[in-house]
Amino acid sequence: MKLWGGRFTKPTNELVDEYTASISFDQKLAQYDIQGSLAHVDMLAKCDIISKEDAAEISKGLQTVAQKIKAGEAELTEANEDIHMNVEKLLIDEVGAVGGKLHTGRSRNDQVALDMRLYLRESLVTIVELLTALQESLMKQAKANLDTVLPGYTHLQRAQPVLFAHHMMAYVSMFSRDAERLTDSFKRVNRSPLGAGALAGTTFPIDRMMVADSLNFDGVVENSLDAVSDRDFVVEFLSNASLVIMHLSRLSEELVQWSSAEFNFVELDDAFCTGSSMMPQKKNPDVAELVRGKSGRVYGHLIGMLTTLKGLPLAYNKDMQEDKEGMFDTVETLKGALGLFAPMIATMDVKKDNMYEAVAKDFSNATDLADYLVGKDLPFREAHAVVGQVVLHCINENKYLLNLTLEEFKGFSDLIDEDIYAVLDPKAVVNARNVIGGTAKNRVEDQITHSETILEKE
Ligand code: ARG
Repeated sequence: MKLWGGRFTKPTNELVDEYTASISFDQKLAQYDIQGSLAHVDMLAKCDIISKEDAAEISKGLQTVAQKIKAGEAELTEANEDIHMNVEKLLIDEVGAVGGKLHTGRSRNDQVALDMRLYLRESLVTIVELLTALQESLMKQAKANLDTVLPGYTHLQRAQPVLFAHHMMAYVSMFSRDAERLTDSFKRVNRSPLGAGALAGTTFPIDRMMVADSLNFDGVVENSLDAVSDRDFVVEFLSNASLVIMHLSRLSEELVQWSSAEFNFVELDDAFCTGSSMMPQKKNPDVAELVRGKSGRVYGHLIGMLTTLKGLPLAYNKDMQEDKEGMFDTVETLKGALGLFAPMIATMDVKKDNMYEAVAKDFSNATDLADYLVGKDLPFREAHAVVGQVVLHCINENKYLLNLTLEEFKGFSDLIDEDIYAVLDPKAVVNARNVIGGTAKNRVEDQITHSETILEKE
């Protein structure tokens, strides 16, 4: 007999059991469900809603059920639909009819919202820790590459040289905003919905704040309809997670490019690459590719959740059972990706010489020639045109700016003197970008110091 079987005259169709059950995935919430029940039953006793003896028996029973589930000794069934009713049934099997008092003043609707929040609260902490570890790896590479110059790109065309450290620090900034967003969302997750009942509250003299306190929540989700019916905290998480995986995906793409023979800027450690079953020479950046690919499923979960919630009337609707798998999968996807990226970045071999060679064999110092002419009072637009001509000449002659003689330079502008060679040197080009957040070495060092201070505070 079902826990709710009283008003039914027939057993449920087996296909309905199978179709509506969530136990196959919400068993992941077992420990949180029991944690919530322990707090609830304790409050019921303290508020004299059930006796202390009954509460003690129920608590003991719940702990046994928790152990059995953990050890894989408990039978979780589709007939009992979800984790909430499975736990209640197991409890009643364990302690008898008194177990039936646990659900006093509570509904699965506030219970499931609570479990989701407990699960997400813990996951947020883990994900922020993993983001910090990744930032530390990126900063380790930044510190080791304060003199490594590579071409910076726009349109994937070499644009202006930058320090590899600067490039690494760009990702540190992105991930630090991601961590900030996730940390900020914590305060909206960290509210207890328990006590909202099915939708309207409860007739029992419960103490919502007591339960919230004992579960370390900052407070309650006040409005009972809101508490059981909104999943905005899930959407917010999926949205923040989408940004994390989007950033990871861009970094992945760069790693894939950089480890190609065409770029040959980095080599990922063997431990983080895989081979080909057919081509013996292959070493593939599979982890980076897979993370890039997994952005699809995370965005999918975000759109899926938004779509599920759209147009739902208040309060709880069964549609909302669809809130779980996407959230679980997103948490696992992020944990997996971040957990791999931190060591993969830390162990990556940066091919400084190849990067430098790429800078030496391009025109990424052309802006500096124009800026030099501007320094001699030529209007920037005219300087731009002159340098365009110089570059065209070089392309025709198969030369780079630094290969030109002073005479050749003078052929384009009399304003160019011997000091141009020092100006056009790639390191000088980098260090000339000496503004806040620029790629000059001292400015990149500032960024590192600043990021270290932020990370230490967390
Ligand atoms: N398994 C359900 C879910 O995950 C629990 C809440 C069900 N409540 C209800 N009244 N059917 O959403």
